[in-house]
Amino acid sequence: MDIQKLFAQRIGGQQFGKVQQTFKFTLINNAKLDFIAKNPSVKVIDMGVGEPEEIPSEEIIAALDREARVKENRIYPCNGILPFQESAARYLQRDFGIEVDPKTEVMHCVGTKTALAQIPLAFVDPGDAVVTTTPGYPVLPKVAGWLGGKVFNMPIESRHGFLPDMRAFEALVRKERPKLVLLNYPNNPTGATATRAFFERVVELAHECSFVIVQDAAYADYVFDGDFVSPLQIPGGKDVTLELYSLSKSYNMQGYRIGFVAGGAPLVKAFALVKDNTDNGQFIAIQRAGVHALDSCQGFLSANRDKYRRRLERVTAILNKAGIEAICSPSTFYLYVRVPEVYQGEAIKSAQHMADILISRYGLITVPWDEAGPYLRFSMTFEVGNKDFANEDEVLEALENRLVRDRLD
Ligand SMILES: Cc1ncc(COP(=O)(O)O)c(C=O)c1O
Repeated sequence: MDIQKLFAQRIGGQQFGKVQQTFKFTLINNAKLDFIAKNPSVKVIDMGVGEPEEIPSEEIIAALDREARVKENRIYPCNGILPFQESAARYLQRDFGIEVDPKTEVMHCVGTKTALAQIPLAFVDPGDAVVTTTPGYPVLPKVAGWLGGKVFNMPIESRHGFLPDMRAFEALVRKERPKLVLLNYPNNPTGATATRAFFERVVELAHECSFVIVQDAAYADYVFDGDFVSPLQIPGGKDVTLELYSLSKSYNMQGYRIGFVAGGAPLVKAFALVKDNTDNGQFIAIQRAGVHALDSCQGFLSANRDKYRRRLERVTAILNKAGIEAICSPSTFYLYVRVPEVYQGEAIKSAQHMADILISRYGLITVPWDEAGPYLRFSMTFEVGNKDFANEDEVLEALENRLVRDRLD
């Protein structure tokens, strides 16, 4: 039997595994290994990884430990437990003034990545249009494409505050009549926030042109300038929105795989149907640890916020000192920096080129994005207190030595 003939076209069909693909993260990792081989005594500064570098609070861990021992919590959780939905609803009300019915307008998910992969199954038939912003988190468009959907990318650029160009967006949705429009504010990788006026217009268009807004709010808790805004705050917004919230970034719970989807009851119901057929729900002990986080860990979250904001400001200052123009992000833990046209006398061809220079010359890892102009993403989740760097000051001192003084310590 020729196994090769069995692979679906969506993963490459007969070519699956035979074509050498160079993924961005593989290139970064290869360059990192090369730097370590050439400079064994120099510590790598990793600003590539986009996930919290510390463990959750002691209280969250204690809640998980306690709940894991409760016999009733062992069962398949399927579509979840009401106390988690109630806690999610309390959080939306308390922090953002959003009212949802915990029974019908909230559903937990096994991390928002999984939810983003499940949502297209509820809406996208072959030939259906889906609109997404680019650069962006690729999961929903990838799965929509796998289902035969037609994916349209809207570039987000600094001249529009990293929001889609509204005129182009309106023309696109009127012409293509998408079923889903994926937005992500606060935005990864640009660190941009949306405005209320933007969501008002998108909600209006969603009603007029009949599409669902899928708003990925994984970074909702990390807005430093102004407030988090949501289409669920706009009159009529709930009817046309599925918004995704994650506990990963806010409470360092990324390994726990817990988040939730909120929106109009029929939309949540459609998501829940797909979910019920594709996963068995998150362990109840983890949902209960999530309740504890959402209800009682504001202090922990606010310490995280202070740390990332401070790091954003400090790294912005160092980059500017080094002649790499950077503007501090108003949200998320990412700094999105346009690469200079010329760096140290060398013409820079792309973000990938600049990222290679920073790794090979300075052992500094960033993530390049070339989708809408050449940019590097610096993540403020770099690790400290390990064998490499004792604390934040040491990392930033090393960064300054390398970028500003051209000195490898
Ligand atoms: C924009 C965005 N959405 C969703 C996710 C997935 O988060 P999780 O599945 O941990 O909730 C991430 C993770 O990096 C992200 O950056």
